[in-house]
Amino acid sequence: MVLKSKHTGKLISFEGSEGSGKTSQIARLAERLQKLKRDVVTVREPGGTEIGEQIRNIIVHNSKGDEMCPETELLLFAAARAQLVREVIAPALMRGAIVLSDRYLDSSTVYQGIGRNLAADPVNQINRFAVGNVMPDLTIVIDVPTKVGLARIHQRASDLPDRMERENIDFYNKIREGYLVLAKGMPSRFVVVDGSSDESATEKKIWEAVRTRIAE
Ligand code: TYD
Repeated sequence: MVLKSKHTGKLISFEGSEGSGKTSQIARLAERLQKLKRDVVTVREPGGTEIGEQIRNIIVHNSKGDEMCPETELLLFAAARAQLVREVIAPALMRGAIVLSDRYLDSSTVYQGIGRNLAADPVNQINRFAVGNVMPDLTIVIDVPTKVGLARIHQRASDLPDRMERENIDFYNKIREGYLVLAKGMPSRFVVVDGSSDESATEKKIWEAVRTRIAE
């Protein structure tokens, strides 16, 4: 499904390095919007569709994943995204929903482009091919110092760190910096929110950014 230009939905993507707290902030925002009787759809990347979840498994948990080359990684993320856009996001936007996406194309720009050193041009072209005309109305980058983010991940009682979480601190510093540079270059789409204080303070800052945009 291709998004028709006349639709009343809003796509808000959340970005940030590991442990930035995107997922819990998305849950808080979804709850707030639902209380206001808004139609809210939340999705996560990679995943969000049956095909996408299978792709996610290959990328994140594949035991031989350490051998995956960056080009393959980029194409797999893009493949999962292409499916998610057409199966879930575009139809939701067409019926007027607010879609909250836990990561979107900027993750590929930053993780594969900057983190894995793939050339910017092909990454941008593949990104654009995957999403078609479904671009975010607003992108919130939750920014936390790398050490804080990594400490949060290690505190999570869950299982062993996955393949992406085993990267070293230099990689995550690059990711953090990459998001900040990207946001600076596109100030009309991006809002950077400091995510290092407590969750309700971060929630308020996010709500300030979202409130005005969904009224537009
Ligand atoms: P996930 O467990 O969802 O991490 P997080 O909670 O931090 O979002 O795993 C997603 C991982 O995949 C994360 O390390 C970022 C990475 N990623 C990319 O490298 N490129 C992409 O395009 C996307 C969507 C994710």
